[in-house]
Amino acid sequence: MLHEKIAAMLNEQINKELYSAYLYLDFANYYADEGLDGFAHWYEVQAQEERDHAFMIRRYLINNGHRVVFESVAKPDKSFHSHLDPLLAGYEHEQYVTSLITEIYHEAAGKKDYRTMQFLDWFIKEQGEEETNADDMVKKYKLFGSDAKGLYALNSELAARVYTPSATGPAM
Ligand code: FEO
Repeated sequence: MLHEKIAAMLNEQINKELYSAYLYLDFANYYADEGLDGFAHWYEVQAQEERDHAFMIRRYLINNGHRVVFESVAKPDKSFHSHLDPLLAGYEHEQYVTSLITEIYHEAAGKKDYRTMQFLDWFIKEQGEEETNADDMVKKYKLFGSDAKGLYALNSELAARVYTPSATGPAM
């Protein structure tokens, strides 16, 4: 059995991951409305990945005998004044999620819960990649986004992102 506090933190993380999916779909809604379908598509794929993260944590809890309980998913409440705003918010959000995963890892280490640490190793690596991707989006937009041709090319590049479910996933 998992320690009660760790199980509760993981249960809450399911909600945070589902919120992340909701938030990124909201970004996609904004870009679709702005006619930037490539940007919208990129965030739709990101939302699918976040949903996968929620499923993985749910499965880990179930595999470890924990009864998963859901809370409400918060409404995304960001308003955007430029095409750059969601990209900045996305980077900030990923840094926040990294801090949440780190807190759970810290708690697991303190309780010598090596199984959960092993499970979270995958998420630690994933967060590193997601922060890099989010930062790249900001950098690319700053380089190319203010020019119409550059924005068109960037939008086309982002449209090519393919959703691929993680082949390995975390240790269960
Ligand atoms: Fe699942 Fe991007 O954090």
